Amino acid sequence: MHHFSYRDGALFAEDVSLAALADEVGTPFYCYSTATLARHFDVLAAAVKPATVCFAVKSNSSLAVIRTLAARGAGADVVSEGELRVALKAGVPANKIVFSGVGKTERELAFALVSGIRQINVESIPELETLDALARRMGRVAPIAIRVNPDVDAHTHEKISTGGAQHKFGVAAADALAVCRRAHEMAGIDFRGLAVHIGSQLTDLEPFRAAFAKLHDMVVALRDAGVPVAHLDLGGGLGVPYTADQEPPTPAAYAQMVRETVGDLGCELTFEPGRMLVGNAGMLVAKVIYVKETAAKTFVVVDAAMNDLIRPAMYAAHHDILAVKPRQGDARPVDVVGPICETGDTFDRAVALPPLQAGDLVAFATAGAYGAVMASTYNGRPLVPEVLVNGDKRCVTRRRPSYEEMTALETVPNWL
Ligand code: LLP
Repeated sequence: MHHFSYRDGALFAEDVSLAALADEVGTPFYCYSTATLARHFDVLAAAVKPATVCFAVKSNSSLAVIRTLAARGAGADVVSEGELRVALKAGVPANKIVFSGVGKTERELAFALVSGIRQINVESIPELETLDALARRMGRVAPIAIRVNPDVDAHTHEKISTGGAQHKFGVAAADALAVCRRAHEMAGIDFRGLAVHIGSQLTDLEPFRAAFAKLHDMVVALRDAGVPVAHLDLGGGLGVPYTADQEPPTPAAYAQMVRETVGDLGCELTFEPGRMLVGNAGMLVAKVIYVKETAAKTFVVVDAAMNDLIRPAMYAAHHDILAVKPRQGDARPVDVVGPICETGDTFDRAVALPPLQAGDLVAFATAGAYGAVMASTYNGRPLVPEVLVNGDKRCVTRRRPSYEEMTALETVPNWL
């Protein structure tokens, strides 16, 4: 469910015409819908109540987006000092921030401790030892969960699966009990519980069920061993529909599965959703530069490229492509490509689109998650602006940098 729709033959974000926005902001740009963000957050939060829903900032680090969610009660899941600073700046209370990741540096851990965040999800023994020593040196006690690697197959793209024994994430289930007992005894550590995250864009509840059932048994074993466990962080990962015919599990079905697997433990729950909150709350709007006919194909060359939205090139991901003002006429198969000098800079092949001409606008749907955050300036292309719409209001929440700004951090050595 989202709030992008056609009105009188033109695509709108809530009450704002994307064509009007393109005139104001220039193309390409990302556009996010407040009503969609709010709806997704509210539906999930209600389903998992009274849990804490920590938005995975890695999926969309726009201050405006984070603040929109924080205003409705969201916390944040962060994976770096940079993301932690962004979450705090957006107004997320420190006691609703969890810090994940296999490679947190001592500096990052120190900043997390000083900030007084809710919990650090520790992923290895060396990290645990570093954090214990650091916290004691700082005269603090670090609230932690141990992230468990449950060794389950998430049945998603291999690059975004994280819960298998072959993956770098978490502490192996077989070692986790010993590690938790050790954490419980450390003076610099406040052992709160367990965390898990098995992958992203899961479209089936069974891998979650398998992982959460393992977590359940570990909590029972820990309690039997005299280690109190009060918290469970169940990660993110619930998928979104990238095409009209995909039907990932609803938040209600997901919450029911959570109750069935860990509901009897009486633990305080945290979730770390990213994609399901912001995925279809965002579109990338681009302009057709040329329509290029060759003997083999028709290429629609647009002014957005793989540097702006890398998911098709990186994960062979599909994003629906919509004409912002569809022209009359038969749809025909075209390849939609960007201007970058690699064949990988292809958004879709042989996709049936209505007739398009130079100057027409297209929108890449479901681009709110892992879109702008993964952008680069490859090929000397400025990062694209981000616009947040709310009813008939719009705000450019990140402007396009100037070319001057793009080289502002560089120095040419004095011998040149
Ligand atoms: N928690 C942890 C520890 C994570 O590693 C992730 C995502 C999340 C939560 C949020 O997962 P979500 O609810 O968004 O599925 N760039 C890839 C996705 C990478 C996901 C990385 N971890 C893509 O574009 O598909």
